[in-house]
Amino acid sequence: MSPIVPPGSTIGILGGGQLGRMMALSARSLGYRIACLDPDPHCGAHYVVEEHVVASFDDVLAAEWLASKSQVVTLEVEKIGLAALEAVERRAPLRPGSRVLAIVQDRAKQRSWLRSQGFPQGNHGFASSVEELAAVLTKLGTKAFVKAARGGYDGRGQYETQTAEDATQAWSYLGAEVVVAEEALDLEFEMSVMVARNVDGHTAVFPASYNHHVKRILSWSVLPGTLDPKLAQQAQAIAVAIAEAINCVGLLATEFFVTRDGRILVNELAPRPHNSFHGTETACATSQFEQAVRAVCNLPLGSTEVVRPTAMANLLGDLWVDHGGVPPFERLLSLRGVRLFLYGKDDARRGRKMGHILASAPTAEEARKLVEAASRCLLP
Ligand SMILES: Nc1ncnc2c1ncn2[C@@H]1O[C@H](COP(=O)(O)OP(=O)(O)OP(=O)(O)O)[C@@H](O)[C@H]1O
Ligand SMILES: [Mg+2]
Repeated sequence: MSPIVPPGSTIGILGGGQLGRMMALSARSLGYRIACLDPDPHCGAHYVVEEHVVASFDDVLAAEWLASKSQVVTLEVEKIGLAALEAVERRAPLRPGSRVLAIVQDRAKQRSWLRSQGFPQGNHGFASSVEELAAVLTKLGTKAFVKAARGGYDGRGQYETQTAEDATQAWSYLGAEVVVAEEALDLEFEMSVMVARNVDGHTAVFPASYNHHVKRILSWSVLPGTLDPKLAQQAQAIAVAIAEAINCVGLLATEFFVTRDGRILVNELAPRPHNSFHGTETACATSQFEQAVRAVCNLPLGSTEVVRPTAMANLLGDLWVDHGGVPPFERLLSLRGVRLFLYGKDDARRGRKMGHILASAPTAEEARKLVEAASRCLLP
């Protein structure tokens, strides 16, 4: 058995966005102190941590400082420079480690690794020039999603092509060194599975979440997803196998595509808390954030048992822009079973995640209807 990092210790978090903020709040409930690193002086975590170093994600000195303050370091965002990650590792345990991050933060490496391990994926190819991209698109022979290998999120850094002739436009739009071109899949739906794994190698898997995207951004999720139980189990087994094969300590979310012809394919991995598991706060006996803390501190993992089905809907900055200020949250809070989570961001922009709603009900279908009603009541 490896040692635990006991309550009272300091946990360092690379990144201070909403996921870091909520992880910090859970860590505090367990009696930990928190230091974070984030370039934004007003990031969401800033207001709930003991120490915040304002620095870019590839600042090696700042990463060293964070590690020197911490008994263990974890992260809430993938795009941390490799040199900074390695600097942390020389001073404190980093969970998940730089090896996992090196694979996951590059879509091409991630797809190659998944392929080498035999995990199911859609057809795809890699390109590092416009000529190569045209050849890959010709070979795919379908509509495609062309994605920059590095740096995208919420559907940014992607270009949808109709034919191989769109290669030139896609290449110049993305301006990337390497791109991944994926066959545009005919999706029945999307789902995700969250796995926690502690230092001793114990794993706990949450129920599969059913996810609905609008314009490539997650719009709402239901937990547990109303899915064919066999499909959900298959996804859970794949997700656990991935967490073990990649030797991830901490959380690992696997996003899945389910195609109309019944295939389960891996979309992408995220070694951190995930938007589609915010519902764990009320759906499960342990939230994803508490589970992250338990995993990286090598504590026993919490139960992932479903307590009350919960649906989640994201609140985007559009709502603030359209209301010309704070949306009428009192309408939403008067609904039974509905809870509001805001990330403390001042600057509301269209497409920016500002918060989310959770709606709990006796069944997943009722929870979904309730979150829909809650979202609707906020519209201008
Ligand atoms: N090959 C594909 N076929 C069909 N739909 C796709 C494909 N690739 C992406 N999409 C759609 O776009 C969404 C976002 O894609 P992806 O997960 O690759 O982007 P992302 O920017 O990493 O998103 P995030 O980090 O927010 O999860 C997917 O959830 C899906 O709805
Ligand atoms: Mg995604």
